[in-house]
Amino acid sequence: MGGSRRKFVAGNWKMNLNLTEGAALARALAQQVGRLDDVTVGICPPFVYLKAVADAVRGSRIVVGAQNMCTESKGAFTGEISGQMLLDVGCTHVILGHSERRHVYGEPDGLINDKVLKALADGLKPILCVGEKIEERKAGRTNVVVGRQIMAGLAGVAGEQMAAVTIAYEPVWAIGTGLNATSEQAQEVHAAIRALLARLYDGAVADALVIQYGGSVKADNAAELMGMPDVDGALVGGASLKAEAFVPIVQAGRTAGGCCGA
Ligand code: PGA
Repeated sequence: MGGSRRKFVAGNWKMNLNLTEGAALARALAQQVGRLDDVTVGICPPFVYLKAVADAVRGSRIVVGAQNMCTESKGAFTGEISGQMLLDVGCTHVILGHSERRHVYGEPDGLINDKVLKALADGLKPILCVGEKIEERKAGRTNVVVGRQIMAGLAGVAGEQMAAVTIAYEPVWAIGTGLNATSEQAQEVHAAIRALLARLYDGAVADALVIQYGGSVKADNAAELMGMPDVDGALVGGASLKAEAFVPIVQAGRTAGGCCGA
């Protein structure tokens, strides 16, 4: 377990930076970690900076993702962005069901599932985020909540489509709080997610699935978290906004777990 999955470290910029800062950060990352082939590096900027970021990392191995998308292809959906539009500006990935979409904007599991299915149909690779609130953890319901989010989010996704899917386990109480899950807490949930995927699909799908951890990942906890056998990378918010903070996390992803990559 864990040895054959290349780690995937992605920055979720959320609603931060401006055009100049975003393009400069993307250029810096392309220069510093853009040629690594033993870890996948991703950048997920706000919609309006996607093209600038994609242009800045062109020719490197860095992948670009959006933070959300619409379930529809085109038409009268004011304020929405389609999967085809994301592809058009150089995106390959899209974060779906992030905790802030679920809990600030009220996105339910069914809508997130529609987005996952549409992303896959469009040829985008979804990063499906799941995670429990603190009261759910305290009530011992973490695996129930995460399991429900995964079963609902992946409803109708075929086994062969799962190669394009990443799951990000992001406990809500750890996001932006500076209070990360311990490596043991993360490992426990990641292992439960992988076991669930083995039941929903099969052992091969479960074994190949990349499960990122997200929630206050920083340079000083990244290696320990990604050193756990079922923690296959990180989805990084705050610490992805500066190259000095993000590059060491990427470097930790290269070596953590003694993974061979490729
Ligand atoms: P954080 O955010 O690293 O700032 O906690 C992670 C995320 O929300 O993806």
